[in-house]
Amino acid sequence: MRRKLVAGNWKMHGSLAENDALLSGVLAGMGSLRAGVAVCVPFPFLAQVQAKLTGSAIAWGAQNLSQHAKGAYTGEVSATMLKDFGCAYVIVGHSERRALYGESDAVVAEKFAAALAAGLIPILCVGETLEEREGGVTEAVVGRQLDAVVAKSGVAALAKAVVAYEPVWAIGTGKTASPEQAQAVHAFIRGKVRALDAAVAEGLIIQYGGSMKPGNAAELLGQPDIDGGLIGGAALNAEEFLAICRAG
Ligand code: 13P
Repeated sequence: MRRKLVAGNWKMHGSLAENDALLSGVLAGMGSLRAGVAVCVPFPFLAQVQAKLTGSAIAWGAQNLSQHAKGAYTGEVSATMLKDFGCAYVIVGHSERRALYGESDAVVAEKFAAALAAGLIPILCVGETLEEREGGVTEAVVGRQLDAVVAKSGVAALAKAVVAYEPVWAIGTGKTASPEQAQAVHAFIRGKVRALDAAVAEGLIIQYGGSMKPGNAAELLGQPDIDGGLIGGAALNAEEFLAICRAG
C-alpha cells in the first residue's frame, strides 16, 4: 500500500513572521497522521524551515532548482545547495514554471536529473491546459511530459520521485477536477509507467494538485490512483492544510 503524501506549495507567498505562525499552527495540529506531510517554500525561507521543522514529522523542499551543478548562472540555485538546507523534495516542472518561465520538457528533464543526482526527491508536475483538455489531447500532453523525463533518467528513476498531476485549468481557479477526471489521468500515468516497470508503477506516488481543499480532499484522495495532494492556496492556512492532511 502506498503511503499518501500531502505537500504544500507555498508559491511566492510568506514572510518570516507569517511562516513562523503558519508552521507553528501546522505543527500543533499534526497529531499522528497516516499521510506524509511536506512543505515546499521559497528559497529564502529554507533556513527558517530547516530550523523550525528539523526533528518534526514535516519534510520540506524547494519549488525549483537549476539544471546545472554550479557555475556562472546568476540568480540560480543548485540541487546541492538545496541539500545543504535539508531539503528532501524539490518541485520540478510546475505549470507556472513551464508557462511563465519557458521551461521546456527538455529543461524539466534536466532539472529532474539534477535533483536525483543530488539525492533530492523530485516532484514532477504534469498537466494539460483547458484548451488541451477540450481538444482531447490530455493524455498526449501528460504522456509527452512524462516521456521526456523517462527518456533522460530511465523508468527506474521514478522509484525515487513523485509525480503530481496538476491540470492547469484547476490551479488557483477553484475549479477542481472531478474525482473521476483526476482518477482517469492518474490511472493513465500509472498504466504508462506499468508498461515499462510494474514494480515502479505500483510504488509510484501520484499526487493531485489543483484547488484541493478540505471540502473535496477526501473524495479525491479516496480514488485508487490518487496518492496525495500538492496544495497551493489551502497550504497557506494551517487549519485548511491540516484538514487535507487528515483526509490523506
Ligand atoms: P491551488 O491549490 O492553489 O490550486 O494550487 C495548486 C498548485 O499549483 C500546487 O502546486
